[in-house]
Amino acid sequence: MLADYSRERSFTIGGTTINPSTWRRWHLRIGGCCRWFCGSPVWPGGPETVELRRRYAEIEATYEGIITLEANGRGIDDYFTKSHVLGEGGFGTVWQATPTKRAVKALPALRMGQGYALKRVRLPLRDAEIEMISKSLLGVSTGRMLQFLKVIASPEATEEHVTRNLLRILEIPHTMHIAMELLEGPTLRDWLVQLENKPLPETLASELAKQMLKAVHFLHRSAGALHRDVKPQNFGFARPVVQDQPPTLQLFDMGMVHVLPEPVVEASARELYALGMGGTMHWIPPETWAGRSGACSDLWGVGLVVHVLLLRQLPFGLQHCEGRVAVWDAIRTGAVASSNANVSKEAMYILGQLLEKEPLLRATSSEALQCEWLNRSRASSDLRTPTPGARKTVAKAVQQRKVQLPVETERWEERSFWQSLMLQTSQWSKPD
Ligand SMILES: Nc1ncnc2c1ncn2[C@@H]1O[C@H](COP(=O)(O)OP(=O)(O)O)[C@@H](O)[C@H]1O
Ligand SMILES: [Mg+2]
Repeated sequence: MLADYSRERSFTIGGTTINPSTWRRWHLRIGGCCRWFCGSPVWPGGPETVELRRRYAEIEATYEGIITLEANGRGIDDYFTKSHVLGEGGFGTVWQATPTKRAVKALPALRMGQGYALKRVRLPLRDAEIEMISKSLLGVSTGRMLQFLKVIASPEATEEHVTRNLLRILEIPHTMHIAMELLEGPTLRDWLVQLENKPLPETLASELAKQMLKAVHFLHRSAGALHRDVKPQNFGFARPVVQDQPPTLQLFDMGMVHVLPEPVVEASARELYALGMGGTMHWIPPETWAGRSGACSDLWGVGLVVHVLLLRQLPFGLQHCEGRVAVWDAIRTGAVASSNANVSKEAMYILGQLLEKEPLLRATSSEALQCEWLNRSRASSDLRTPTPGARKTVAKAVQQRKVQLPVETERWEERSFWQSLMLQTSQWSKPD
C-alpha cells in the first residue's frame, strides 16, 4: 500500500520535532529497507507521487488510454500476451506483445492479433526520478497532461514520424506498461553499425534528416513536449530497410520527455527552461550542460545525428572523448567545419545551423524544415544568418551561465565510434 507521505507540517515524536524533509528522508530509507527485505519494490515518495497518482486517476475517468490495475486485482497478462524481448534500455524492457480481448474492449484502437511494442517502466523509486517526473507532469495542468497523451496516441503521430503511445497500464505501486506501435525495422543506431563506413547517398541522408526534424517539430508544436534524449538509439525504422524503398524513421522513447505548459510556437522555439542536466553524455547540448533545455536543445540532437549520417563521426572529435570533462571541453572548444570535400555546401550549411552552440542563434525546427538541402526540388528560403549585433548580445547572456559538470556514472572506454554506437551510453540526470 502506498502510505500518505504528503505531510507538509512538522510534527513531534517522543519530544523530537520532525520537519517534512527529515520525514521524507526517513521514508526513503524505510522504503529501501522494505525493498531489501521483501524483494519487491514499493512506491515511496512525497506529495509529488501522491499527486501523480491522483492525476492519473483523474485522467483515467475520462480517457481510455490509461488503465490503473490497483483496484481490480488484474495484471498485465490479462491485457497483453508477451512473445519476445525487442530491446532493453536504461529505463525499461520492451517486448513484442499482442492484446487480449479485454485490452481491445478497453481500447478499441488496438487490433486483435496485431503486434505491439510493450515497454515496462519501473515507477519512480528514487528521489531524483520522482523529482524529474514531478517537474514534467506535475508542472502542468491535468488538461495539458491529457492533451499530451492524446496527441502522442493519435494516428497523426505516426504520419509525423513519432511512435504512437497508445495505452498506459499502471500496476500500482511498482510498474507501468506502455503499449506502442511496433517498429519492424532496426533502430537507427543498429542500422548505422551495420552500414559501417559504406557511403550513404546524400539524398537518403536528407530524407532521414527531414523525417527526424518533422518528428521533433510535431513533438514540440503539437504535443507540446521536449524529448531531451535525441540520439540514433531512439530512432527506429517502421519497416525493415530494403533497397529502392524509401525508409520511414520514427522517434520513440518518451522516458525523458518534459511536457510544457503550452505547445511550442515559433516565438517560444528558443526559450530555455531550468530542467537540470539530463540525457546521454555525448548527445547533450551545450545549454543542457548548464542546466537548461528547450525545443532548440532537441534540434542540437538532430544536428549530431545528421552529422553522423553525413560524415560518419560526431563533430568536435566527440567520439574520442572519455568522460564528462573531455566531452564538455570538446563541445566548448570545438567547431563544425564549414566545408567538406565529400558533402554538399547546402548540407554543411544546415549542419552549422543545427550545431550552433548558442541556442538563441540555432535554427528552429520550422526554419530547418524550410532549408534548401531538404527541399531541393522546390524553391525554398534560406536560413537567416545571425548578425554580429545578435551574436554580441547572446555572448553576454552566455557568459552569465554557470556550468557544473554532473557526477559521472559510467566510464566511457576508448573504442572505435562504431563499436561505441553498439553500447547503450549511460543515461543520467541531475536535478538542479
Ligand atoms: N515501438 C518499438 N518497436 C520496436 N522496438 C522498440 C520499440 N520501442 C523500443 N524498442 C526497442 O527497445 C529498446 C529500448 O527502448 P527505449 O524506449 O529506448 O528504452 P529506454 O528508455 O530504456 O532507452 C530500443 O532500443 C528498441 O530496440
Ligand atoms: Mg532509449
